This record gives sequence, C-alpha cells and structure tokens, in this order.
Amino acid sequence: MAAAVLPNPSAPPGATPATALKLAASNSKKPVSKYGVYSREEVAKHSSFEDGWIIVDGRVFDVTKFLNLHPGGKHIFADVLGKDASEQYFRFHETRQLDKYPKLLIGELDEF
Ligand code: HEM
Repeated sequence: MAAAVLPNPSAPPGATPATALKLAASNSKKPVSKYGVYSREEVAKHSSFEDGWIIVDGRVFDVTKFLNLHPGGKHIFADVLGKDASEQYFRFHETRQLDKYPKLLIGELDEF
C-alpha cells in the first residue's frame, strides 16, 4: 500500500502542508514540525543568545546554534535577535549565503 502524505498535525497555525512538505523534501533531516508561518510578535519572543531568531527578507531563522559558528562573531547579533535583521544582513552578505545554511531556516513571516 502506498504511504499517504498527511499534513503535519503539530505544525503551527498558518503553516500550510505544502510549505512543510516542500521543506521536508529539501532537507529530510530537519524536523518538519518546527517550520511555520510566524508573526513579528512571535519572533520577538526569541531574542536571547540562548534562544535567538532573526528575520531576513521575510524568512525566519533560528540562529541559536549558529551564533558561536558565525564568522562575523556572536556579539554582532546582540541588537538583532528577535528582530528583522535584513538591513544588517545585506550590509555584509549576499542572499545566497543564507541558502548555505538550510538548517537555520524555520519558517516565514506571516506578512509575505
Ligand atoms: C542567518 C544569518 C547569517 C548567516 C548565515 C551569516 C553568515 C556569515 C558568513 C558565512 C560569513 C563569512 C563571510 C562571508 O562568507 O562573506 C559572515 C560574516 C559576517 N557577518 Fe554574518 N551571517 C548571518 C547574519 C548576520 C547578521 C544579522 C549580521 C549583522 C548584524 C552579520 C554580520 C556579519 C559580519 C560583520 C561579518 C564579517 C564580514 C567581513 O569580515 O567582511 N551576519 N556571516
């Protein structure tokens, strides 16, 4: 019997099965349940070095585990955790650098 592809019941409200499945297909090691559609208010709750998210270009990244690996240093994130860091990000990097770190991507902003 062919396996049915069901929407993930633990996906956050607003996350469509289509986006979750697309991500699952692109990176099977990533837990699909974390991928979602987030508001700026939700992102703002993750503003510490122990639990830090940023927004870049409408996408939401959990950088907590990346902070100590960031070539530009950990402390440069101090002012942008929990916020939209697009301006700061594009000052120092090109978009394609983000695609090198698919594990950091956890979702998208609800406005896009
Ligand atoms: C998910 C987010 C980010 C990723 C994946 C990332 C990745 C990287 C990488 C790979 C480099 C090495 C240099 C290069 O390849 O060009 C770098 C350097 C750097 N990053 Fe980031 N970065 C992120 C976010 C940020 C943010 C939000 C800031 C500023 C607030 C920042 C500031 C810098 C700076 C200042 C450098 C050093 C540039 C230089 O030496 O010329 N980064 N980053």
